[in-house]
Amino acid sequence: MKPPLEGASLQPEPDLVPNPRPDGRLGREQGPEGRGPDRLSGDRLRGHAATPASSDAGVGLKPPPDRLYGRQRSHALRPRQDLLLAVTLPRLRLRDPADPLGGFAERPEGLWLEVGFGGGEHALAQVAAHPGIGLIACEVFEQGLCSLMSRLVAEGGEADGALPPNLRVWDGDARVLLRLLPQGCLDRLFLMFPDPWPKSRHVKRRFVHPHLLPALARSMRRGATWHIATDDPTYQGWVAEVLAGQSWFTTPAPAMRRPDGWPATRYEAKALAAGRRPLYWTLTRTSRPVLAADDPGPATATDQATAGPETAGRLPTPQ
Ligand SMILES: C[S@@+](CC[C@H](N)C(=O)[O-])C[C@H]1O[C@@H](n2cnc3c(N)ncnc32)[C@H](O)[C@@H]1O
Repeated sequence: MKPPLEGASLQPEPDLVPNPRPDGRLGREQGPEGRGPDRLSGDRLRGHAATPASSDAGVGLKPPPDRLYGRQRSHALRPRQDLLLAVTLPRLRLRDPADPLGGFAERPEGLWLEVGFGGGEHALAQVAAHPGIGLIACEVFEQGLCSLMSRLVAEGGEADGALPPNLRVWDGDARVLLRLLPQGCLDRLFLMFPDPWPKSRHVKRRFVHPHLLPALARSMRRGATWHIATDDPTYQGWVAEVLAGQSWFTTPAPAMRRPDGWPATRYEAKALAAGRRPLYWTLTRTSRPVLAADDPGPATATDQATAGPETAGRLPTPQ
């Protein structure tokens, strides 16, 4: 694994042009450095799960598809779950991703995002521990959404039970949200035990992906932190490879024990119980701007029209 990037010390934020595109696709940002995109080298990826179609893997890697592959529902919903989705979810939903801070009852002092919160244990623990921040918790799996909401409101309280004022939910594809958020708005991003998609042919489904890095980097302010945890050995190697090929984030070696301040998650518990060894990365957003040339193109999730049959109609409508 590469040591932390040299020269990644924080520099004054360059003047970036805000994302001008109304559809939320990556804008054509231009920074003063005029640098081209970082690319994963073909050498580094050769023999890896990702098989680049050309030696320039940042270009040759298949871009992530617009559709979601994970399950959005595992079985029929119970009446209580229907109620939570129909009545409680609209009370929590982030309505205007272009103005995420405005979506909270009180303007938070910082904005955090959790991608794929699963049962919501981590999100709820963070919200309780940090009342001053605003957390956007993102999940597409309906039973996961219900799990979080059922911890928040007792039966009968779906319509008017008290909800944490510093929590908002995005019940759609996190990749869409990233493209709708204002540039540099996030102070922290959590990606805890993402679906590993260990098969080579499923590389394009992984959330940590060279094609998604510009959108991630764009949404995070300089100095913001990105927490990644995974127990899957293939994904661990993959994260190291992807990080080694970019300079938007520092790349310190991952910790082998969960750092303080990271609440445990259900998938971590499963991994530990099965004897697997999670790794925990804490990355810092460097000052490197996201340039027009970094945008790999439109082949990522962008809006309801392209989000695929399972997701269409379920994504929150940008206001
Ligand atoms: C393996 S689970 C981990 C859940 C939780 N973070 C934990 O550690 O227990 C990954 C979760 O990410 C969600 N997910 C996958 N892709 C997503 C996406 N593009 N946007 C939002 N959530 C996503 C899945 O629905 C699933 O619940």
